[in-house]
This record gives sequence, structure tokens and C-alpha cells, in this order.
Amino acid sequence: MIFDVITAFPGMLEGPLGYSILKRAREAGILTVRVHDLRDWAEDKHHKVDDAPYGGGDGMVLMPGPLFAAVDDIRKTHPADRDRTILFCPQGRPYDQETARRLAGYDRLILICGRYKGVDERVREHLADEAISIGDYVLTGGEIPALAVIDSVTRLLPGALGDEEAPTRDSFWDGSLDHPHYTRPAEFRGHKVPEVLLSGDHGKIAAWRREQARARTAERRPDLLQRRREDDEATKH
Ligand SMILES: C[S@@+](CC[C@H](N)C(=O)[O-])C[C@H]1O[C@@H](n2cnc3c(N)ncnc32)[C@H](O)[C@@H]1O
Repeated sequence: MIFDVITAFPGMLEGPLGYSILKRAREAGILTVRVHDLRDWAEDKHHKVDDAPYGGGDGMVLMPGPLFAAVDDIRKTHPADRDRTILFCPQGRPYDQETARRLAGYDRLILICGRYKGVDERVREHLADEAISIGDYVLTGGEIPALAVIDSVTRLLPGALGDEEAPTRDSFWDGSLDHPHYTRPAEFRGHKVPEVLLSGDHGKIAAWRREQARARTAERRPDLLQRRREDDEATKH
């Protein structure tokens, strides 16, 4: 899986890509992340990539020229078969585990990080295949969303985690939340680990975990259960 990230602040991505699973996936050749400085495609000698908004108002807007040129160049220099261009935008489609699974099916994702007041609308309309939001709040730029997508997609790539089945046991895989986890000590500040987990009875432990997952999904995220019911209904008809 290849990610081509276009950003005006390339240094922002370096740190998180150098740790843990992302680092190992890169070293193993499972993941390639190329970070491109948008200013390399600036059209003037001052490397300007933003300009004042038409119609007035506060903040600057990323110009379409450098972004279109960057995507064209990346596609030409590094062609990929199953390819998708994504714009990060708080008004985009909400990102979730299902989207991560869908995106993991591509060979390469081009990620466009917005900044300032936003990105010229023509980028969304005529360059990006889709716009993604990572939640109903506003960040200063698309770099943190890009890292969230790279991280969540990488976990799903074959070989990225020691156990390939691991993501299927995490929250959201089948429309429910994960069960609780405990480790040593068995008692901490008077709080005990549930007895069943110390019993060694794997059947009982599995049943307890299933019930915990069901109960906390119902309590914390009833919307997930409702959606699963709707999906089941839809597949019946
Ligand atoms: C300050 S924001 C622009 C917000 C825009 N004026 C609005 O209200 O919709 C600058 C950039 O950060 C990124 N961004 C901010 N919040 C985001 C979110 N929740 N999801 C995805 N991208 C986000 C986008 O790339 C956006 O272009």
C-alpha cells in the first residue's frame, strides 16, 4: 500500500510514521509513505500556495494550481492501478472502520491536506475522488487526519500486525465494541480483575467477553446496534 501525502507542512508527519507498527510496516515494505511538499508545485518564486478568498473574509485559501499540478505529477511519476485521491475536509464523509476497510483495498491513496481557511472548492469538485472528515470538529490542517487514515488502514494490511485476525476482534469490525481487557496485577488498589478471567475456563471466558461486548455496545453505542439491525434487514430483502 502506498500513500502519497500532499502537505504544506511535511515535517508534521515524520514523527508518528517512525514508531511501532507503522515503522515496522514501512521497514517490511508493507507500507510506503511519500510525503510531498506542496510548495514544490508553487507557481511563483516565493513558493506561495495560498491566496486571499474571493468575496473577502478572513483567512487564506489553498490555491488549486499547485494541488492539481502535484496530483498530476505524482500520478505520472508513480502510476498505480487501483488509485484514489482523498481530500481532508470537515465537511466530508465521516471516517469509520468500514471506510478504512474499503480504502485498504486500493494500491495507492493520494491524500490532500488542507490548511488555513480551507481549499479552493474546485479541488473537491474536480480533483478529489472523495472528501473525508475525521469528526465534527475543526483542526488546523489535514495532516492529523492523514495520519489517522494511514494508521487505521495500515493495521488492516496483511502482515502489518503479527496476528492477521487481530483487527476482526477490535471495536467496530462487526458493528460492536470490544470487550474490556485486564492485565496483572489481579488486584490493584482494591479493584479486582473479574473472577472468570482467572478461572482458566476458556469457554466461560469467551462467553463472558461476548456478553460484555454486547452490553457495553448497547449502553455506549446503541447506534451501532441499530445500524447492524438495519444492515441485516437490508440483506434479507
Ligand atoms: C481550519 S480547517 C478549514 C475549515 C473550514 N473553513 C470549514 O469550516 O469547513 C483547515 C483544513 O484542516 C483540515 N481539517 C480540519 N478539520 C478536519 C476534520 N474534522 N476532518 C478532516 N479534515 C479536517 C482540512 O483539510 C481543512 O481544509
